[in-house]
Amino acid sequence: MMQQAINVTDTIFWIGGNDRETDLFEGLWQLPRGVAYNAYFINDEKCALIDTIKADKLSPYIERLVSIKPEERKIDYLVVNHMEPDHSGSIAILRKLFPEMKIVGNKKTIEMIGEFYGITDGFVEVKEGDVLDLGYHKLAFATIPMVHWPESMVAFDTTEKILFSTDAFGGFCALEGGIFDDELDMSLYEDETLRYYANIVGRYSAPTQKAIAKVRTLDVKIICPAHGPILRSDPKHIIDLYDKWSRHITETGVVVVYGSMYGNTKFMTDTIARAISEAGIKDVIIHDVSRSDMSCIVRDIWKYRGLVLGSCTYNTELYPPMASLCRSLKNKMMKNRILGICGSYSWSKGALTELQAFAEHGGDWKLIDPTIEVKSSPKEADIELCRALGKNMAGAVLAAERN
Ligand code: FEO
Repeated sequence: MMQQAINVTDTIFWIGGNDRETDLFEGLWQLPRGVAYNAYFINDEKCALIDTIKADKLSPYIERLVSIKPEERKIDYLVVNHMEPDHSGSIAILRKLFPEMKIVGNKKTIEMIGEFYGITDGFVEVKEGDVLDLGYHKLAFATIPMVHWPESMVAFDTTEKILFSTDAFGGFCALEGGIFDDELDMSLYEDETLRYYANIVGRYSAPTQKAIAKVRTLDVKIICPAHGPILRSDPKHIIDLYDKWSRHITETGVVVVYGSMYGNTKFMTDTIARAISEAGIKDVIIHDVSRSDMSCIVRDIWKYRGLVLGSCTYNTELYPPMASLCRSLKNKMMKNRILGICGSYSWSKGALTELQAFAEHGGDWKLIDPTIEVKSSPKEADIELCRALGKNMAGAVLAAERN
């Protein structure tokens, strides 16, 4: 009983693996539906592996590789498009299994292979535009630095017009039977692709724009990413989605995130959310910052134009899970969003002051009035301010969409 390689074309095989056991990607991001580590084998006069797999998932990779006929699976090259260990983790063992195999990477890749795995020879160094001639297939390399690591590159098979795109155009979610976009319900995958983009790649949206500009010059028929479905029915669609997300183009809606110990701050944000809805916005997404997964909150904030943050004060400071969210949002360098804030305290102020500092220094936020600070519990005047904030937020979001 062994896993089988799956044909992408007659001579290109998917030999990746699905991970439904790891609960946190990068030790941070929940994987409720798992993740796929895609890797590929090209059978040609010279044979090439495209990327490896996370070290503890090597078994299905090897099983799929040896399921290809022995006479077709000599390994001349291992192309390393990206060094994060979910793809590079098996380089050292593969080098031991196939000592004659040359490792193909750019200058930075080769440095990193030495640093990670102690391998210092047997490389083919490639630069932007170089072509690796396998016989029928010709792999042209293009660097895509900081999508999302400095050494990241893609390989384009100019013969079959297949782009091996590494993390770019990938997403969370294991491959559930189908491995191609036309075999799957892609609406399920698009949410997980946005969650991946927002949390893993989003900070590097400017480099992503440069990468997309390069990719748009290619006549791509199939995108083979390192995560998520292989895109062969409409590869332009995923390029357009990544383009939209990396341009910070948002949808009409507001995410409301609250941190509340005893319900007073929650009452305020519920009031704000109701006013947003009454003003005509249907997409109002509410998250309890203590309970929603951070990656889902970030995904939704990436999607929508408006954001309301409401937090209680804890030990004279911003409530810890809200502080963690603000730190994460600042790191993501979001642009083009509208922000409303409110805070509460009982015996010491703190939350609103920190939210105001976040509004000023935590990214490209357009802060709208009123900012609201409530002592102990919201009174009628505070509730009126919450209604005003909700109405103003909705008005600002709707006006932004009209422009
Ligand atoms: Fe999927 Fe950046 O590794």
